[in-house]
Amino acid sequence: MRATAERIELKSPEQIATMRAAGLVVAAALAAMRDAVAPGVSTGDLDAIARDMLKAAGATPSFLGYHGYPAVICASVNDKVVHGIPSAAEKLMEGDLISIDFGAIVDGWHGDSAISAQVGEIAADVAELSAACEASMWDGIAAARANGRLSDISNAVETSVRRAGRYGIVAGYGGHGIGTQMHMAPHILNYGRPGKGPRLTPGMALAIEPMITLGSRATEELDDGWTVRTVDGSWAAHWEHTVAILDDGPWVLTAEDGGRAELARRGVQLSATAA
Ligand code: MF3
Ligand code: CO
Repeated sequence: MRATAERIELKSPEQIATMRAAGLVVAAALAAMRDAVAPGVSTGDLDAIARDMLKAAGATPSFLGYHGYPAVICASVNDKVVHGIPSAAEKLMEGDLISIDFGAIVDGWHGDSAISAQVGEIAADVAELSAACEASMWDGIAAARANGRLSDISNAVETSVRRAGRYGIVAGYGGHGIGTQMHMAPHILNYGRPGKGPRLTPGMALAIEPMITLGSRATEELDDGWTVRTVDGSWAAHWEHTVAILDDGPWVLTAEDGGRAELARRGVQLSATAA
């Protein structure tokens, strides 16, 4: 029972409602940052937007100070996969693909989400990469149902990516439990056989975050101690949502519509708690 060695935090309905409040702060800030993305805008500018929105909402950043992390967002452009540090010097260019990852805390409860945003017109294969990654996230979310098993999510993500094309599924990194901390048990790989690991239980909250590339799955960490980029220089996409598991279905806490539209497309009922 190695996989269950670390307890998974179970939340009450009230606690999940507070996580929803955090999730909506994250959703609004990511939408604002996505709208601001344009050639000449710096990743530091995007970080400033997130800081302003946290302040306006009276929320606390999840990332700032996390093991010494120096910003409120992660900004990972092109061959950077995740954990890129935003800066005023890093200006976006037409054709770039940027993963914007952001987390917020409301009354002690975390929300964590990421989008991949296109800078102007981008190459067709890069747009397809991002679309495949987003779709695999939603396929993983659709598998996050009470009484299933943790690796059903991993397998749904992998199956979705493999069906979409010849992409690298980034090795080692993955999603995570979330609640009173940003990173909690369990770790959720984006690949694997179904039917393994802990049983999915009402009250769990999970961050599901596929990372895929146009080339190999191998990554390396830069000397800044944070930035993860592909070893082969291929471009990567990254999408993430925080999802609560309820007895009658998932509730995507960081999606403005709670996941209603994408779950419906997959024939999965959104939890009535979301209404
Ligand atoms: N949101 C990222 C994740 O999902 C975490 C960012 S790491 C930090 O794992 F250090 F920047 F906080
Ligand atoms: Co995360």
